[in-house]
Amino acid sequence: MTPAPPWWRHAVIYQVYVRSFGDADGDGTGDLAGVRQRLPYLAELGVDALWLNPFYRSPMVDGGYDVADYCDVDPLFGTLADIDGLIADAHAAGLRIIVDLVPNHTSSAHPWFVEALASPPGSPARERYVFRDGRDGGPPNDWASVFGGPAWSQAPDGQWYLHLFDAGQPDLNWAQPVVHAEFERILRYWLDRGVDGFRVDVAHGLVKAEGLPDLGGYQSGLGDATYFDQEGVHEIYRAWRRLLDGYPGDRMAVAEAWVSPAARIARYTRQDELHQAFNFEFLKTPLAAEPMRGVIDESLNASGEVGAPTTWVLGNHDTVRPVTRYGDGPTGLARARAAALLMLALPGSAYIYQGEELGLAEVLDLPEEVLQDPVWRRSGHTRRGRDGARVPMPWDGDGPPYGFSPNGAAPWLPQPAEWEALTVAAQTGQTGSTLELYRHALRLRREHPALALGEGQLHWLPDPPPDVLLFARSSAAGAELICAVNLGSHPVQATWPGNLLIASAPVSAGVLPPDTAAWWSITA
Ligand code: GLC
Repeated sequence: MTPAPPWWRHAVIYQVYVRSFGDADGDGTGDLAGVRQRLPYLAELGVDALWLNPFYRSPMVDGGYDVADYCDVDPLFGTLADIDGLIADAHAAGLRIIVDLVPNHTSSAHPWFVEALASPPGSPARERYVFRDGRDGGPPNDWASVFGGPAWSQAPDGQWYLHLFDAGQPDLNWAQPVVHAEFERILRYWLDRGVDGFRVDVAHGLVKAEGLPDLGGYQSGLGDATYFDQEGVHEIYRAWRRLLDGYPGDRMAVAEAWVSPAARIARYTRQDELHQAFNFEFLKTPLAAEPMRGVIDESLNASGEVGAPTTWVLGNHDTVRPVTRYGDGPTGLARARAAALLMLALPGSAYIYQGEELGLAEVLDLPEEVLQDPVWRRSGHTRRGRDGARVPMPWDGDGPPYGFSPNGAAPWLPQPAEWEALTVAAQTGQTGSTLELYRHALRLRREHPALALGEGQLHWLPDPPPDVLLFARSSAAGAELICAVNLGSHPVQATWPGNLLIASAPVSAGVLPPDTAAWWSITA
């Protein structure tokens, strides 16, 4: 008998934006105790693992992606005892825990950077970061920050330091062995505390192009800056893989690498590197049959080439929520629900960002004075940033804070009045609600033999109706599951066999309405 594949090859991983999930202490900001309280909800939802966004000590210039101490919990989020308790309870509930690792940059409040600023140019303390003399009275090169504005800021003595993100996030110098040693220590620290894996932030950014060449006016943006994806990053992940493999229990790491095309992403998941990389190509592809079929094939081929599982992702804390991306309003919701059934029928591992299972839309009308994303400030108030995807979860009740905070405290970002019908409580037990759709789909994914271990092939069925994605998955024993997604504007008649298992909108007499996905089962 072949052994079961490791869990991460087919896991459904739920992203918890800790700041916005559950607030146990009533200060309006989510915390680890709040996540811990809500573990039964996540176990019941039917996911396999949680990825927790950063909860480390941080001045919170970029929502915790500016880490001042990698081995301690920020008081805003709790204590080390809280994370230990959360890991223990999650494991007892059968849930694995993935934590965020931020190796591209530290906070400017990190002791290393404080020491660097207090030390002279050329000193070992400065060499841990990327300090350079300026050029012609300005920064050393023309690089722009992903968040807007120049990628360089000046130290009081006039030297400049590189920050691909906010000025409060100085980039580390991965040419220095001491940086490698420090991150290996941090990995071990969290592995020893029992975490099951790491989400590697800006995994494509750690190594900069030799000589820091000008980009020639090229404007960077999250995802496509040419100074990313240098060859040297892969050696780092090979070392980390060896480290992870030294621990029992299938520990894993997933790369956040905004690179294209799929074959470039797959290089992060070669056998001796990281286990997964987020498939942002899938997220970025328009929800239409031809491009979707193309990206699915390309992703499966590219990951197949390196023997890695494909991942599927529709949203995260950096991107506009799928409901809004796919058209907003009832159409956007219908299409996001269809996309969820598509994603969960694909082979490999899938990510769900908190609130997707409730059908939450991006909050587009946050008042300017509450915006906290550094993108808003650094873009000179021209890009509103990512706060609209980070509004705290609605749990119950008929108005804000919808059970997010225990004592009615105002959440750190205001929730919309129209979320009353979208709370967990309002959707629980409601036939046809998005939450019940996810619960049902996740149960089927675990139980149906053609989906259960995630490894079965995908076969496109011949001659699908126009604008319809139509494929089958099959188990070794011959059970089949057919998934059809109607992305056209006309209803289509199902001409394929099988018993209808689940649909993202009502399917009667075998007619699949527009913007609808459904699964049929043919048991062996
Ligand atoms: C990643 C994070 C994002 C953060 C950036 C800088 O892209 O997902 O939220 O702002 O890295 O750390």
